[in-house]
Amino acid sequence: MRIVARVRGKWVAVATVPALLLCAGVLSGARAAGGADDGEALFRQKCGVCHKTRIATSRNETKETWAGIVKTMQGKKDNWISDAQARKIVEYLSTEYGKK
Ligand code: HEC
Repeated sequence: MRIVARVRGKWVAVATVPALLLCAGVLSGARAAGGADDGEALFRQKCGVCHKTRIATSRNETKETWAGIVKTMQGKKDNWISDAQARKIVEYLSTEYGKK
């Protein structure tokens, strides 16, 4: 009886570790999304404040055209979209809404 209890105690202890790791993984994933450093998240965050993002997603353009549009939009609000963020947004838009 005591052995079973001990085995159970061990099993519980072992099961707790992966559960904690899973939590840590979910939390760090959430942090990355909150920091918005991937193209799609940046696009939603930066390009949806003045107009609907549909103004962009309703069209397909070449990478050059997207770069030009994003540059124009960057100029509409000082220090809102950094050059590094603009590059990621252009990358996202030309991949998802590119013109073949
Ligand atoms: C500070 C406000 C603001 C932000 C931020 C902004 N836009 Fe705009 N956008 C505008 C305004 C105002 C217009 C209306 C047309 C114009 O003035 O050029 C516009 C027009 C557009 C158009 C249509 C332009 C055309 O010539 O047909 C597209 C596409 C567009 N925006 C995409 C974006 C994208 C992509 C981003 C993010 C990188 C973005 N916008 C961020 C204000 C903004």
